[in-house]
Amino acid sequence: MDQFIRDLPKAELHIHIEGSLEPEMMFSLAERNAIPLRFADVDALRRAYHFDHLQGFLDLYYQGMGVLRTEQDFYDLTRAYLDRAHRERVLRAEMFFDPQAHVVRGVELARVVDGISGAMVDAQREWGLSSGLIFSFLRHLPVADAEAIFEQALPLLDRFIAVGLDSSERGNPPGPFAALYQRARGQGLFTVAHAGEEGSADYVWQALERLKVNRIDHGNRALEDEALVQELVRRQTPLTLCPLSNLALGGVGDLSAHPLKQMLDLGLNVSVHSDDPAYFGGYINANYSAAAAALVIERPQLLQLARNSFNAAFASPERVEGWLSQLDEYSRQQA
Ligand code: ADE
Ligand code: ZN
Repeated sequence: MDQFIRDLPKAELHIHIEGSLEPEMMFSLAERNAIPLRFADVDALRRAYHFDHLQGFLDLYYQGMGVLRTEQDFYDLTRAYLDRAHRERVLRAEMFFDPQAHVVRGVELARVVDGISGAMVDAQREWGLSSGLIFSFLRHLPVADAEAIFEQALPLLDRFIAVGLDSSERGNPPGPFAALYQRARGQGLFTVAHAGEEGSADYVWQALERLKVNRIDHGNRALEDEALVQELVRRQTPLTLCPLSNLALGGVGDLSAHPLKQMLDLGLNVSVHSDDPAYFGGYINANYSAAAAALVIERPQLLQLARNSFNAAFASPERVEGWLSQLDEYSRQQA
């Protein structure tokens, strides 16, 4: 099954590029930029990667990204991720980044975006790997802060495919970001939001009804509300699930309790992704493999998950058709 997953064409739609910062790269960038780290070495850092909820992880994640200072740093980070994605047979990668978390440290927004975009262009040229960038707002900060960074980003908007909403979910509902989302839509951007990762089903409703999102990131807790499940099925709203993240952050105690299979059986439009792979112990194929083993997911459902990932991508119908043909071809070869 692992071999089948390794060669399965797929789209990665839920990856925070800063969450792909491996400890080794964190140490090498810290050295390059003369930034002290509070961990003695890579092993000591890895030993700190035990979280029991989202906030514990976020504290380390924001600290870790402090080593990213120059355009070259963002290029190297993104390049390493996209090379890895290509090796895992990702044909399309849509990556989040957290602009506010860099600008607040005095890093210029254009340097961040140029570094990431440069790597995207090179991965397209070298591997034919298609990618997009999602401008993500930090929900634990005031809405005015998000509005200000969006204003700053206006000259760069053609570099982004969508806006997103992430960071500490509890106590920070989506609703207040509605006007900003409307503005982003008016600029031709797609919209997504993290909802129902730790927050209640009501947050998923708010993301749908007030932010009018095209996709929900996570959405696990939607299952607590039957009417919401029906609505998500009716609309076929994509939910980008991240099993190893949910395990690492205590959303599920064991992968056999993960809702992925139940959600598939309910007819929800779910797909599998990696969230912050450097912190949660695995990239996209590790997420597919761990979920498939724990939940006994067979080939037809794995193909469905990959199909859902391409259909949920923010790309033209022609490109989506092209990826789906590659998936069909793979399915025929394997039959
Ligand atoms: N930022 C990076 N990873 C995140 C996650 N899993 N949830 C919310 N915000 C995040
Ligand atoms: Zn996420």
